[in-house]
Amino acid sequence: MPRSYLELIEGNREFADAIRKEDPGFFENLATGQQPKYLWIGCADSRVPPANITGVPPGSIFVHRNIANVVVHTDANLLSVAYYAVKVLKVKHIIVCGHYGCGGIQAAMSNKRYGYIDGWLRHIKDVVRFHESELKLIVDEQARLDRLVELNVVEQVGNLAKVPFIQEEWEKGEFPYIHGWVYDLKSGKIRQLDCTINNTGLIEDVFDYDL
Ligand code: CO
Repeated sequence: MPRSYLELIEGNREFADAIRKEDPGFFENLATGQQPKYLWIGCADSRVPPANITGVPPGSIFVHRNIANVVVHTDANLLSVAYYAVKVLKVKHIIVCGHYGCGGIQAAMSNKRYGYIDGWLRHIKDVVRFHESELKLIVDEQARLDRLVELNVVEQVGNLAKVPFIQEEWEKGEFPYIHGWVYDLKSGKIRQLDCTINNTGLIEDVFDYDL
């Protein structure tokens, strides 16, 4: 059996030792419970690990990741994570983070078949459909893909805002804020999109639930 995977065990030992050297009680403290302030909904892409790219320690971010950071309103996995984050952990901020160079976005924009994943990509093809007139005007293919990455993030921020248990929180106060970000693989920097939301003001009436 190839043993290259053991680099992960070795890396873990170094990680734990380094933190313990800095703060001997770090893990014991964290083991008593988590109080993350953030929920991160991001792409599964290995190049966009939330805690690493934001420089925060374990215990900071509650995470859900899938291909192309999609918020599907029937996704029991995502909704359970979001429900727990909002209702129990009471996170103050939810971040939907896409990234330029996203393979899922590129696949969705194309006409190629990708097997099982095609059904998932339909959600992004819908985003293409909603914004077809804008996207059609962008001649440069890379620029068009980059724009779809952004539009997809904005769409998913909107999808979260249509979830009744999130609207319920907004009845009680200002939190959670939902933010849309895009990570740039080439620079390692995050770009904040101007789409932060913490009320149903801009949500189409049919999605604004009576509470
Ligand atoms: Co991606």
